Amino acid sequence: MEKLAPEIMISEEQLQLRVEELAKQITQDFQGRELIVICVLKGAFMFCSDLVKKIELPLKMDFVSLSSYGDSTTSSGKVKVIKDIDLDIEGKEVLIVEDIVDTGLTLSEYTKMLNLRNPKSINIATLLLKPSKVQHDFPISYIAFEIEDKFVIGYGLDYAGRYRELPFIGVLNESN
Ligand code: IMP
Ligand code: MG
Repeated sequence: MEKLAPEIMISEEQLQLRVEELAKQITQDFQGRELIVICVLKGAFMFCSDLVKKIELPLKMDFVSLSSYGDSTTSSGKVKVIKDIDLDIEGKEVLIVEDIVDTGLTLSEYTKMLNLRNPKSINIATLLLKPSKVQHDFPISYIAFEIEDKFVIGYGLDYAGRYRELPFIGVLNESN
């Protein structure tokens, strides 16, 4: 199947405006406090980069790389940590920044793992949420966009490793 040029679902301008809004909200919510921002690689790199530039709080950043065990069609909810964070989060305010919550199983499992390290709080910011698929039982404090159940790429998100560099969120049109 040939992949055509992606169709824009959320433009660069819309992304920037919404990211700015979220950053303002986070800045207000954590006034006088310090954050540890955990960027979930690889998909959240661009969202996280734009977000932290606009958050007006003292913060430290760290990065985690996760993958789900199980076959390709079912998510078992078991998480393999490929690269863990280096910072000590005990007693700290943690903000996990994710690209997209689909079933939420990966993030649910990782949040449980982080909780064992006794942070003061854990909040989640996600760029995208697909409401139709939600199976998770954890609250998401910051959601930039809820989208319909389509496979999206760009602004960090990939299809087979490609399209992460696009400055917008797009949908791939398939042709024969
Ligand atoms: P889940 O929430 O555990 O089901 O896993 C969500 C992960 O699947 C995300 O972090 C993405 O890496 C990937 N994913 C889900 N939906 C999409 C999509 O539409 N485009 C690109 N990646 C996706
Ligand atoms: Mg991801």
